[in-house]
Amino acid sequence: MTTLNKQDKRKILVTSALPYANGDIHIGHLLEYVQTDIWVRFQKLRGHDCYYVCADDTHGTPVMLRAQKEGKTPEGFIAEQKNNHERDFAGALIGFDNFHSTHSVESKELTQSIYLKLKENGHISSKTINQLFDPEKQMFLPDRFVKGTCPKCDSDDQYGDNCDNCGATYNPTDLKNPKSVVSGATPVLKESEHFFFDLKGFESFLRDWLSRDNHVQSEVQNKMNEWLDDLRQWDISRDAPYFGWEIPDEQGKYFYVWLDAPIGYMASFKNLCDRTEGLNFDDYWNKNSGAEVYHFIGKDIIYFHTLFWPSVLQGSGYRTPTAVWAHGFVTVNGQKMSKSKGTFIKAKTYLEHLNPEYLRYYYAAKLSRRIDDFDLNLEDFAQRVNSDLIGKLVNIASRCSGFITKQFGSKLSASIIEPELLAEFTSASEQIAQHYEQREFAKAIKQIMTLADKANAYIAEKEPWKLVKNDETKELAHQVCSLGINMFKVLVTYLAPVLPVLTDKVQDFLKLDNIAWDSAQDPLVDYEINKFKPMMQRIEMKSIEKMIEDSKEDLAAEADKTAQVELSDPIKDEIQFGDFDKIDLRIAKIAKAEQVKGADKLLRLQLDLGEGVTKQVFAGIKAAYRPEDLEGKLTVMVANLAPRKMKFGLSEGMVLAAGPGGSDLWILNPDDGAKPGMRVK
Ligand code: 2FM
Ligand code: ZN
Repeated sequence: MTTLNKQDKRKILVTSALPYANGDIHIGHLLEYVQTDIWVRFQKLRGHDCYYVCADDTHGTPVMLRAQKEGKTPEGFIAEQKNNHERDFAGALIGFDNFHSTHSVESKELTQSIYLKLKENGHISSKTINQLFDPEKQMFLPDRFVKGTCPKCDSDDQYGDNCDNCGATYNPTDLKNPKSVVSGATPVLKESEHFFFDLKGFESFLRDWLSRDNHVQSEVQNKMNEWLDDLRQWDISRDAPYFGWEIPDEQGKYFYVWLDAPIGYMASFKNLCDRTEGLNFDDYWNKNSGAEVYHFIGKDIIYFHTLFWPSVLQGSGYRTPTAVWAHGFVTVNGQKMSKSKGTFIKAKTYLEHLNPEYLRYYYAAKLSRRIDDFDLNLEDFAQRVNSDLIGKLVNIASRCSGFITKQFGSKLSASIIEPELLAEFTSASEQIAQHYEQREFAKAIKQIMTLADKANAYIAEKEPWKLVKNDETKELAHQVCSLGINMFKVLVTYLAPVLPVLTDKVQDFLKLDNIAWDSAQDPLVDYEINKFKPMMQRIEMKSIEKMIEDSKEDLAAEADKTAQVELSDPIKDEIQFGDFDKIDLRIAKIAKAEQVKGADKLLRLQLDLGEGVTKQVFAGIKAAYRPEDLEGKLTVMVANLAPRKMKFGLSEGMVLAAGPGGSDLWILNPDDGAKPGMRVK
């Protein structure tokens, strides 16, 4: 590592957006993690104290329901996902200093304490609002969990927030014929007290923060100015059932996931500090901290990071971010990533077929500091990687090293034959560093590859393979190849933030203890190196084709899984034995079964529980059974269900049946000596 004077050493904390625990990492995510990782590796190579933290974003309704659907506890589900995410990030060579979870003690403590500070400082209020509620699932429904007919264009099957067909945005209550996505039930409006963060009160702070010190990119600034004219109170609470942190002193109320998500950045760092000697949380997060804090994010979550997050930090007495840097979305072959085309490529699938450094290089080669979308053109990708990394970069070492090993006892020459040429390489250091610093990676790569062209042209011109054959020119060949290896070393040093594995291999090849940014300045003269081993293979188009095929298979496998999960109803919330024990299940004889006038689905059953006890039950089994086929049969009923007054009369229990419904329904039908009135255990 480069050693810097204390005053030159920066303290830098860097984050990437926390991935949702309910999804797999894909190549779209990887753009951000690779961008951040390159920037962080660069800062570390320059000798700064730079820490890169992240975590899984674990809370919210989608995680809770997904876990239920898979018959898992949310904790079990997020633990599995964390393993998967960590596996994928390690595969993509993302070098987090810490990858934590928002379902952690640090997150709970920080979220609750930040909330209490906001409350103490007068930034929290409450009011009662009306929201759609699923009466069957007994839960309030987030906008995306209500579907219905668009109020504008009448297109069916539209989400509660906006219409895919006509683009209209509306409230879920505006939908015609709304249905809960969770249970299919028709939602009802229900009141509930919610807690609000007073974003409006931060308007002048935000105007000031956004307008100075490059806190946000210029493209973002324009957008923000529009938003600032229309700031609203931010609803930060959700009702039980919810997977998240409870709001202190407010029973049954939870923090909305977007409050605790960015606090996850702090929580992950806190967790790192608690186990790292000499690393102090307050040095980075105190109001007057001299440290720098950067958030890399996608353009879809700018609002959260540039309005809510700085205001929450400001309102609770912490420092605000040095900058928030957004990037665009990844397209593949010029189009949105598509599951059916096989271009929705998961990190896992990519890594099964291709070297992570190919993608890191291609991303770097085209990334700028702007927020434009990024096109991964797969043919261009293969061509560019093969030409630049194999054809230009590694080629320098493979052309020169054989002669050094075989003809010159593995030793580089005692002097640099053309110091001005090498100086062109070494003197580019600061300019390239500035490109990295500014996140203008494409400019850095362009400059590095121009130098690689120069090195190759020099070797081609000198033709050491000819020089080596003649005793008089043999030493010249030694000099040329030694300069070649030195140029290669400089280039690899500049590429080290992008290609960490290749850098390790080169470190080994050149017998170096480590590579820091400034190592580029030290020529290797009269110096022994190791034998060259192949460092990177060309990309074969067939690997890319296979990856696309497998991505289509991923889709098929997922569809299968979903089908299985959807066939069997989602398992309901866990109950305790005490809850179960309250249910009195009895064998009942269907004494009488008859049609109910005006009812589409119901049959009226007269159930005999023995000892003269009878109950009337309306059961929704009309499509499955003819009344005459039921009479005399035994079934199982819930005998102590509170009677319900229905349109057609009183229903005093419930018969148990299995199946998806409609005509596919089977009442439980015990035999083998069961008698009416027997308790079912
Ligand atoms: O959009 C997302 O994927 C969120 N999980 C990002 C959260 S970033 C941060 F605020 F935690
Ligand atoms: Zn519409």
